Amino acid sequence: MDRRKFLKTSGALYGLGVVGSTLFVESCKKSNSTSTTPQGPTVNFNIDLSQPANNSLNTAGGAISSNLVVVANDGGTFIAVAQRCTHSGCDVYFNPSGHRFVCPCHGGTFDNSGNLTGGPPPAPLKKYTVTRSGKILTIAG
Ligand code: FES
Repeated sequence: MDRRKFLKTSGALYGLGVVGSTLFVESCKKSNSTSTTPQGPTVNFNIDLSQPANNSLNTAGGAISSNLVVVANDGGTFIAVAQRCTHSGCDVYFNPSGHRFVCPCHGGTFDNSGNLTGGPPPAPLKKYTVTRSGKILTIAG
């Protein structure tokens, strides 16, 4: 290969390398992007606290899952967030001593309002309003 041909070929390869590197960096940015938009289904359902299946909610620290929502009694206040972690969709659980929700799959953590506090999840959990009328909780949002 003569000198001219060598310089043409190596210049073209260098250009491909620059473009390839830029595309790789851009794709990494997209996969690591985060969102402040909470993720979760739209729901509107009732929970009857007098039913045995919901009895754990009558005790501070208790929680149940229903309709893809985790409902918890956080020290006497009822709270509800989306059940599916925004990372890979594992089910989060309520940790009463930490007043937070934890994902068992990769260690994602969320505060008691569903805000992301740690781990790989890219977005917060959707928080739902919980209203109480006697023994009936209504979860909506
Ligand atoms: S699925 Fe929840 S942290 Fe990965």
